[in-house]
Amino acid sequence: MTTASSADHPTRRDFLFVATGAAAVVGAAATVWPLVAQMNPDAATIAAGAPIQVDLTPIAEGQDIKVFWRGKPIYISHRTKKQIQEAQSVPLSSLPDPQPDSARVKAGHDQWLVVIGICTHLGCIPIAHEGNYDGFFCPCHGSQYDSSGRIRQGPAPANLPVPPYAFLSDTKIQIG
Ligand code: FES
Repeated sequence: MTTASSADHPTRRDFLFVATGAAAVVGAAATVWPLVAQMNPDAATIAAGAPIQVDLTPIAEGQDIKVFWRGKPIYISHRTKKQIQEAQSVPLSSLPDPQPDSARVKAGHDQWLVVIGICTHLGCIPIAHEGNYDGFFCPCHGSQYDSSGRIRQGPAPANLPVPPYAFLSDTKIQIG
């Protein structure tokens, strides 16, 4: 006569124990998920103006990316040393909308330029890394902005606006 061990044939009590444990895990997941989901604003909330966070790690020196905040295009430029030096050395008296570069970037993070990518002439979207000033070129009527987003040439009356933003760490910003 052979006797089966409980490992081979789980008892009814084992089954209830496993089933109860599984239900507890499912219950815990169902409880946690809405809290986790709540931390990420949905598309409607973002469109309504919620702050957005941007990881700067993938943006190489000399590259620009475009993100959207409040439905507006935002350019984030990882400026080269040459671009920074040019932006800092322009005499303010030569600028149509005089503003020092230091007023347009965050102290200690001057390799990063963050501007709203809407031309201050009639609202076209300028092209990054184009034009005579290694900044932005507006294809609609030829306005040219420098690597600080300041208007240098063409009909636009003002610099590209800097949106409200803050560095959360050296590699992450929050816009809005
Ligand atoms: S809209 Fe940009 S130059 Fe006119």
